[in-house]
Amino acid sequence: LPPDHIEMIKAHELLAKFYHHLLMNTNEGADALNHLFKRGFTKESIQKFNIGYSLPEWNFAVNYLDKHGFSLETMEKAGLLARRNKDQAFVDRFRNRIMFPLLNEKGKTIAFSARALSDEDHPKYLNTPETQLFHKSSILYNYHQARSHIRRIGYTVLFEGFADVISADGAGVSNGVALMGTALTEKHIQILKRLSNSIVLCLDSDDAGLEAAFKSGSLLERYGMDVTVAQLPDKLDPDDYIQQFGAEKFREDVIGNAQTWMAFKLFYFRRGKNLQNEGDLLDFIDKAIIEIAKLGNAVERDMYLRQLSEEFSLSLDALMSQLNELIQPHVDKKHEKQQAGERQPEPRKVN
Ligand code: CTP
Ligand code: MN
Ligand code: MN
Ligand code: MN
Ligand code: MN
Repeated sequence: LPPDHIEMIKAHELLAKFYHHLLMNTNEGADALNHLFKRGFTKESIQKFNIGYSLPEWNFAVNYLDKHGFSLETMEKAGLLARRNKDQAFVDRFRNRIMFPLLNEKGKTIAFSARALSDEDHPKYLNTPETQLFHKSSILYNYHQARSHIRRIGYTVLFEGFADVISADGAGVSNGVALMGTALTEKHIQILKRLSNSIVLCLDSDDAGLEAAFKSGSLLERYGMDVTVAQLPDKLDPDDYIQQFGAEKFREDVIGNAQTWMAFKLFYFRRGKNLQNEGDLLDFIDKAIIEIAKLGNAVERDMYLRQLSEEFSLSLDALMSQLNELIQPHVDKKHEKQQAGERQPEPRKVN
């Protein structure tokens, strides 16, 4: 590692430790600690995730880092300090916030995500900007701790937020990681595939979360991963759900009941549609059949067609002939693409 990277990591490790101390042991941190307890965080989880608190001062980190002999220019590059322009004084980036340290694959702290104490404060989460060490689109929160559990349990649970990962961990789901408020990327998938080919999406059940589940799931499927979707009721997120219904219901009713990717897609396509309306129904059936046609397994295709036929009193023969029309051209298209030298997704694992 270049010397300034080592210095950046050392500064993050020291600050994280001090922020944690401020939260746990000082009067200045008492409000923040109470806030976390009220939200359902436990002392154990605060320790395990090394959560901290940054003081409402402009110069705390500046002085602390200076006193410990760090170059303030390097600390600016690390994202810990900021200044309006080159001839102005350095100030702390993070003030009066709950500090979530972000760790690299080796378990070293390389960045922070800092949550406002009040929901009225914006932004809700203030993250370290892109630096030489921190790339938002290729980091997964809790990867370092979840890695061994993912290998052991055989799948990853993907969450949206830090609080979801931490609550789930407290509820006995230790194989969870979270995106950093970004969309799932190819880079994330490469990292995940090293550990397991199976993934349970457990995103927020608001509209944004459902859209993200559809997008992420489609991308994961294209990379040949086995995707299932754990859905939550009433627009809750996993953290809200665990606080409201408890650990056991989360493990059994949510994670244990994850639906197949196909079932989720059917749910997703009919969302917001009035299936009493003929146009809406035909549109839904079209989309559904396109997805069913992509299934590699004839028995599976048959099963979903029968479900549609029964639920909407449609003739199975008609559904089947619509499906068969799709299967032939689909194969041809794939063939053409391959000849054109386009990159093909890895084939989906057939169970
Ligand atoms: N996020 C972010 N910046 C924001 C809002 C969100 O980086 N201004 C990221 C955070 O990583 C957050 C995730 O997106 O954890 C999911 O957003 P959201 O569901 O709104 O936050 P929660 O994790 O539910 O946060 P909390 O429970 O603390 O309200
Ligand atoms: Mn919230
Ligand atoms: Mn959300
Ligand atoms: Mn959320
Ligand atoms: Mn939340």
